[in-house]
Amino acid sequence: MRSIAVINQKGGVGKTTTAVNLSAALSEAGQRVCLMDLDPQAHASLHLGLALREGEKSIYDVLTGDTTLAEVRRQISQNLWVIPAHLDLAAAEMELAGEVGREVILRDKLVADLATYDQPPYDYLLMDCAPSLGVLTLNALTAVDEVFLPLQPHFLALHGLSKLLRTIDIVAQRLNPTLKLTGVVLCMYESGTRLAAEVTNDVEEFFSRRTTSPAVWSQAQSFTTRIRRNIRLAEAPSFGQSIFDYAPQSHGAEDYRRLAREVMGLPIGEAVTAELEARG
Ligand SMILES: Nc1ncnc2c1ncn2[C@@H]1O[C@H](COP(=O)(O)OP(=O)(O)OP(=O)(O)O)[C@@H](O)[C@H]1O
Ligand SMILES: [Mg+2]
Repeated sequence: MRSIAVINQKGGVGKTTTAVNLSAALSEAGQRVCLMDLDPQAHASLHLGLALREGEKSIYDVLTGDTTLAEVRRQISQNLWVIPAHLDLAAAEMELAGEVGREVILRDKLVADLATYDQPPYDYLLMDCAPSLGVLTLNALTAVDEVFLPLQPHFLALHGLSKLLRTIDIVAQRLNPTLKLTGVVLCMYESGTRLAAEVTNDVEEFFSRRTTSPAVWSQAQSFTTRIRRNIRLAEAPSFGQSIFDYAPQSHGAEDYRRLAREVMGLPIGEAVTAELEARG
């Protein structure tokens, strides 16, 4: 099982869009996927049509009480499960603040959950994180093996990146030696603009300085697939649908399908060819 946290403390860069639609694309490709919503905004849950009612259990109950992950997990399609969040998750940050071992709660819950199966129940576990480096995000970093970093290629894209990388590095040293930043996903990409090309070059140059970078992100690279700006991706959440249910022929669907192939280590050219063939 690969476990991946989608993280950037900067808001509105495409974390949720990527976590939701990459999960959906992987599941469409036959992978069993669990998407965990670790953001009190609960956008990933809402994006997939899960608006929890008062009293329904969520990741909040898992992190602050005896509730198991299995109790809150919901299957929403053949290969896709969601562990939803609710606005009350914001209180967890405060409630956990004084607790010893607060950064490892999620990891322990995951270990306990996996111990109930002979084989891991999914191939991919993705976590959608909040735009902060608070205790919820630290729980994600402590529980996963990989980080995907969505970036929006604009002027301040790299601003704050060193703080994020330092946090990842500290978690790797103190709490989770297997943690690696594996990929940068360029989101809301405006192809043809000079700014996008320039920032993309900056990002690539930043991550190519491998000799001086700590081990935790020395293998990081930008995915070749760029997620183009596409209005369908922005519309899909209000229908409670992934891009594959809402607009399966859109550029957005095409890009996330391609990204999923890249994540799975498959050649990405074929996805495009198949797409074009399907369209006749
Ligand atoms: N490729 C895209 N094309 C057009 N709109 C997009 C694209 N990706 C994301 N958006 C839109 O941009 C906004 C921010 O995206 P998203 O919610 O995924 O960011 P986020 O990093 O999860 O934000 P937050 O930090 O608040 O959690 C949303 O309205 C989303 O629908
Ligand atoms: Mg989000």
